[in-house]
Amino acid sequence: MAGEDRQDSRHRRLNPSAPIGVFDSGVGGLSVLRAARAALPRESFIYFADSGHAPYGDKPDDYVTKRSERIGAWLIEQGVKAIVVACNTATAVAVQALRARFTLPIVGVEPGLKPAIGATKSGNVGVLATARTLASERYAALLARVKSDAPNIAFMDRIGEGWVEAVERGEFESPQAIDMVVRVVTPLLAAGCDTLVLGCTHYPFLAPAIQSAAPRATIIDTAPAIARELMRRIRSEAALNAAGTRGSLRIATTGDAARMSALVATMLREETTSQKIETAA
Ligand code: DGL
Repeated sequence: MAGEDRQDSRHRRLNPSAPIGVFDSGVGGLSVLRAARAALPRESFIYFADSGHAPYGDKPDDYVTKRSERIGAWLIEQGVKAIVVACNTATAVAVQALRARFTLPIVGVEPGLKPAIGATKSGNVGVLATARTLASERYAALLARVKSDAPNIAFMDRIGEGWVEAVERGEFESPQAIDMVVRVVTPLLAAGCDTLVLGCTHYPFLAPAIQSAAPRATIIDTAPAIARELMRRIRSEAALNAAGTRGSLRIATTGDAARMSALVATMLREETTSQKIETAA
C-alpha cells in the first residue's frame, strides 16, 4: 500500500477523549464490546455491525478483507483512536492488511487455545469457529505454536453450523438454536473434550445453550482478555480517557437500524439508537 494511502500518522498523538472503534460482521462483537466497556467504563465506543454483509465465515478472503478495510477507514473518519477487530474471521483474514494500511492501535481476536491448555484435564479441547477462521493460515500458525508448547493436548475443531445466523436472528435459546448447538457439541463430548473454545465472537451469546448441552465442560471466551489487551495498548500510548465517569456508545450498522437497536437492547441490556450506514460493497 503506497504511503499516501495511509489514513493516519505514526507520529500523531492519540486523543484520549476520542472513541474506540469496534467492528464485527454483525452483532457477535457485542460480546467483546461488553467486556471492553466493563474494563474501560470511561471510554466512548463506536460499534459497527456489518450485518448487511454477514456472515463473513463463508465468504472469500478478499471480500472479508475489503469489508474490513472499508469499515476501518469509516471508523477512522469518525475519529477513533484505536480499532478492535471483534471478529475472529476478520482478524484471521484481514488484520495484517489493516495494520499495513492504518497505523493506529488495532487489537484483533483469536480462538483461546492457550487458555484452554490450562483448563483441560482430559487433554481434549474442542475449538468452535467459522469455516473461514479454521481454514486460515493464521489459525494454522496459532495451532502449530500452541501444539509445540503442549504436544499432548488434542484440539478438535468444529464449525458452529448455523450459529452465527441464529445469533443474528436474536435466537439464543430457541429449540432450533439448542438443536444446532447439541448437534455440534455432542460429538466433541463423546470424543472426550472437557473444554470448549468459543472461537467466534457470536458464540458467547449461545453460551447458556452450550453449557446446558455440556454441563461439565469449561467454556473459554477470550473477551475479557481482549479488553485487557485493549487497555494495555491504549495505556501504552498514554491515551486512556481520564475524564468523566461513563463513556458514550454509538452504534452503526449496514443492516436494519431498528433491528440492530432491538438486538443491542437484548444483548447488552442497553437502550441505544442505531444509525444506518452505507459503505459500498
Ligand atoms: N463474529 C465472527 C467471528 O468471530 C464472524 C462470524 C461470521 O460473520 O461468520 O468469527
